[in-house]
Amino acid sequence: MDSEICIIIESVSDIITAREQGRTIGKELGFSFTDLTIIATVISEVARNILVFAKEGEIILGMTRQGGRHGIVIIARDRGPGIPDIPLAMQDGYSTRKGLGLGLPGVRRLMDEFEIISEVGKGTTVTMKKWVYQT
Ligand SMILES: Nc1ncnc2c1ncn2[C@@H]1O[C@H](COP(=O)(O)OP(=O)(O)OP(=O)(O)O)[C@@H](O)[C@H]1O
Ligand SMILES: [Mg+2]
Repeated sequence: MDSEICIIIESVSDIITAREQGRTIGKELGFSFTDLTIIATVISEVARNILVFAKEGEIILGMTRQGGRHGIVIIARDRGPGIPDIPLAMQDGYSTRKGLGLGLPGVRRLMDEFEIISEVGKGTTVTMKKWVYQT
């Protein structure tokens, strides 16, 4: 990653801060208005998961370059309870707290790259990338 910023997530206002920072970085990278909205939505979803399931954690935002293209990296990291069954958690409609269960599968569809590493009792790290497409 070229440069990165870290936002501690421990309250709803931190989610708003992370969203705004995501939009700022996205704008600098030249993402379309629609993509900026997608980036903000994705940050909200993973930050809300941190707050709901782990109580606290962090969002790391950065710019990345690879083979002539550039994009945003969003990392959501916590030391919460972890996810015992990741394929199950990635299914549409699966929620352990009577939510819609659309957060993680929605985020995966909205981003170009998506990876979850999680260990029960240790925590969860979700790493996502979106590339800028020149027209
Ligand atoms: N950071 C996390 N730590 C522990 N468990 C998590 C975390 N993020 C997601 N999960 C687990 O994965 C499930 C699916 O997450 P997802 O975001 O898709 O749905 P949800 O948060 O339950 O509902 P929604 O996001 O639609 O309001 C959660 O119900 C929870 O069990
Ligand atoms: Mg969720």
